[in-house]
Amino acid sequence: MNKDLLTGFDLSAADVRDLFALTRDLKKKRFTDVLRNKTVGLIFQKPSARTRISFEVGAYQLGAQCVYLAPQDIRLGERESIADSARVFSRYLDCVITRTFSHQLVEELARNAAIPIINGLSDEYHPCQALGDMFTIYEITGSCRGVTLCYVGDGNNVLHSLLALAANLGLRLVAATPRNYQPCPDIWALAQERAQKTGAALEYTTDPVAAVKDADFVYTDVWVSMGQEQETARRRKVFRAYQLNRELLAHAPAQAKIMHCMPMHRGEEITDEIADSPHAVIFDQAENRLHVQKAVMARLAAGAGKKKNPRRTRD
Ligand code: CP
Ligand code: NVA
Repeated sequence: MNKDLLTGFDLSAADVRDLFALTRDLKKKRFTDVLRNKTVGLIFQKPSARTRISFEVGAYQLGAQCVYLAPQDIRLGERESIADSARVFSRYLDCVITRTFSHQLVEELARNAAIPIINGLSDEYHPCQALGDMFTIYEITGSCRGVTLCYVGDGNNVLHSLLALAANLGLRLVAATPRNYQPCPDIWALAQERAQKTGAALEYTTDPVAAVKDADFVYTDVWVSMGQEQETARRRKVFRAYQLNRELLAHAPAQAKIMHCMPMHRGEEITDEIADSPHAVIFDQAENRLHVQKAVMARLAAGAGKKKNPRRTRD
């Protein structure tokens, strides 16, 4: 595996298979000591429930200690350069999980840190979420290959990492977003390039009804991501036709499972009826964040030491 987990594109299909095998094992076992005497840092610029809790609990269950730094504590990129922060973290910690606005910030940290950097969400990617989601699909279907995952909503960080992993794992992913809210063209192109090698099918439409037609899984995320609060009124209007509700799901196969990364804005992107339906696997997704992230930490941090001379780059 690469030193860092930043996007989902940084994992090969073999890496994901290995992580899923370890995830299954850790889900059964729960406690091991593979990270005994290690310390994991959580450095967050945005709020979080699932990511913070699942990493802290996961680190504890692997035998590691955790340090959490909230936005007001660290002011990452403000008090000193990202490169200097990366070098300092590398002297204290064995692994860092970040939650940032700018994706470039995470990349710069990773370039300058001797220890693994795990992206716990940036404006562009959410690889830990997508890994937990793909593991959920894998648990239900026994294989991700050939599964049709339909994503309805905003072409955002969650969709970008889902595209990366779908391309790797050979899924059919159909994305339906409003015009002007499609996934980033560069990320789409990268995912398509991967998909050509694996036989995955990535399709795009603006029509949510057409998108859900053959879905095994229908996925949505919030219409207003963290940092986009000033666009709330406009987004609520633009995304209205993309709500997961009874009318839209009437066009999907009856057995299609419902997915959401949470937090849910009930009454916006998903109705209570759909969120609470027996087809929803939303809380399984939330739980699987814990198990899959333990596998990621175990693979990346177990061998990481506190190196005195992290790689230097010109800033
Ligand atoms: N899905 C997710 O990342 O949730 P949090 O924002 O609560 O961490
Ligand atoms: N797209 C959402 C995901 C939250 C887990 C956001 O970035 O706020």
